[in-house]
Amino acid sequence: MKSITTILCFLLLVSCTKPEVAREVSVIPLPDSISLGEGTFILSAKTVIVAEGKAVAVAEYLRDFLKKATGLEVPVTDKRKKNAIILSLEDGLSGSKNSKEGYTLSSTSKNIVIKARAAEGLFYGVQTLRQLLPPEIESPTVKSDVVWSVPAVTISDQPQFAWRGMMLDCSRHFFPVSHIKNVLDQLAARKMNRFHWHLVDDQGWRIEIKKYPLLTTTSAWRVDHEDQHWNERPAQKPGEEATYGGFYTQDEIREVVAYASMLNIEVVPEIEMPAHVSCVFAAYPQFSCSGKKMTVLPGGVWPVTEIYCAGNDEVFAFLEDVLTEVIELFPSKYIHIGGDEATKTNWESCPKCQSRIKTEGLKNEEELQSYFIKRIEKFLSSKDRNLLGWDEILEGGLAPRATVMSWRGFAGGIEAARTGHDVVMSPTDFCYFDYYQGPKESEPLAIGGYLPISKVYRFNPIPDSLTMEESKHILGGQANLWTEYIPTPEHSFYMMFPRLDAMAEVLWTNPEKKNYEDFVHRLDRQFERYSNSGINHSKNIY
Ligand code: ACM
Ligand code: ZN
Repeated sequence: MKSITTILCFLLLVSCTKPEVAREVSVIPLPDSISLGEGTFILSAKTVIVAEGKAVAVAEYLRDFLKKATGLEVPVTDKRKKNAIILSLEDGLSGSKNSKEGYTLSSTSKNIVIKARAAEGLFYGVQTLRQLLPPEIESPTVKSDVVWSVPAVTISDQPQFAWRGMMLDCSRHFFPVSHIKNVLDQLAARKMNRFHWHLVDDQGWRIEIKKYPLLTTTSAWRVDHEDQHWNERPAQKPGEEATYGGFYTQDEIREVVAYASMLNIEVVPEIEMPAHVSCVFAAYPQFSCSGKKMTVLPGGVWPVTEIYCAGNDEVFAFLEDVLTEVIELFPSKYIHIGGDEATKTNWESCPKCQSRIKTEGLKNEEELQSYFIKRIEKFLSSKDRNLLGWDEILEGGLAPRATVMSWRGFAGGIEAARTGHDVVMSPTDFCYFDYYQGPKESEPLAIGGYLPISKVYRFNPIPDSLTMEESKHILGGQANLWTEYIPTPEHSFYMMFPRLDAMAEVLWTNPEKKNYEDFVHRLDRQFERYSNSGINHSKNIY
C-alpha cells in the first residue's frame, strides 16, 4: 500500500512538473532581451490567431505550421478574442532600431501578442514562439499527449546583421526540391534570411535555361562513380552513359523562390564564371579557349584550367542570355557570378584572349579577368541587379559596384570595405561547413579542415581593423556547404547541424550578449527539436 502511495505521488509530481519543465525558455538565436513572467498560455482548440492586412500571410503560415504537430485547426480571424495569438503591425516600436526584422513578443496566460513594424518582424516573432512551445512542435506528424504550453515572457528582439546566409552546393551533388524546402525551413527557424544557391560547377549544371537546352540534357549529367573517392573517379569513357545528376526546372525554381519568400528568405543564385564551368563545354565546347569537347567530370579537378574564353564575344552573348533568364526567375537584388579559382593558363596561350588584352589595353590575365567581371557587372546593372562574387574578383581591379564575398580569410573583405564596397564575410576558418566538426575518427569522410561548433560561435564578421564607417559595409556573414563529400540530403543536414545554430546566433544576436556556455545549454533543447523533426545531426559536441 505504502509503495503504491509513493508511486502515485511520484506520478503526480511528474505530471505536475510537466508544464514546469516546458517553462524553460531556450531560444536560438538568443533574443536581445527576455524576461520571464507568471503563468502559462495553453494552445488549445479554443485558440485563434488574430491578424489583419499584411499580417494575415504570417498568420496563415503560423496556422499551417501549428497544425502539423498539434493537429489543431487554429483559425485566423480579424476579431479580437480570448485565448488569442495576436499578430499586430505597428509603427514606431521602441527598441527595435527601426529594423524591419525586429519584433516584440509578450505572452501571458490569456494571450500572446507579437508586434512588429513589418511582416518580416512578425515572422521572426512567430519563429521565437515556435521555440517557446515544447520541442514536439517540430514533429511533422500529430503528437497527441503533449500540453502545448508557452511560458509567460516579454521579449524584445532585432538582428545584428542584415545578411544571415547559407550557401548550398547543388552541383557536386544534386539535392531534390523537397530537401531545398527542408533547408529553407531550418534557415527560417534560425532567423536566417539568405539562401545562396550554388547552381553551377564543373560537375554539373543545375538550372534549366530555355535558350540552351543542352545545359540540362547534357551538362547536368555525369557518369556515376559515386562508389569511389571524389578525387579518384575516372572520366567518362566512350560508350559509358552519364546517369548521375539532375537539374531544377524553371517551374521548380519559381516554386522554391516563392516558398523562400514566404519564409523571409531571399534566394541568391550563383552562376559561376569564368571558371568552374567545364560541364558547359560538354554541351557547348565553342565557349572555351580550346574549343575541345569535354565530358562532365564525375569527381575532383585541380587546377581549374578549362574556363570561358574571355576573347570571344559569343561567350558574353551566351552569358547575357543565361543571366536574362536567371534574372526573370530570381527577384533577388544580388546575382552571384562566382569568380573564384580561375587558373588562367589557357588565356595566356589563346589568340582571342591575347587579342582582347591588346585591344582593351590590359596589362595581363588578371586584368582580363577584371574586364570579364566588369562587363558582366555592366549587364547586371542595366537590369538593376547587383553583382556579387568571391573575393578573387578583386584581382586586376574590382568592378565599380560589386559586392565581395570574402572566403580566403578576411583580407579580401577588408580591402573591399576600405574602398567602399559591400561585403559578406564567409572565411573558410569559421564558415566552411564541409570541414570536419569533430575528430576525424568519429566523423564521416570530409574534405579536410577542422571547424568545431565552438569555433563557429567565435566568428565575428567585423574585423577589428576596420573603422566604424568601413564596418558599415559588412552586410553580414554566411556558412558555406560545399558537397564534394556530401552525397545525400541526410548527410548535408549532418554537416549543418548543430553548427548552423552557432552561425545563426553569430549573425542575429548582439555580440555583447553572446555566451558559449549558455548557448551550449540551450542546444540541449535544440537537440530535442532535431529529434522531433527527424533532422540528422552531429553529436560530437558531447
Ligand atoms: C570557394 O570556396 N572556392 C569559394
Ligand atoms: Zn580565350
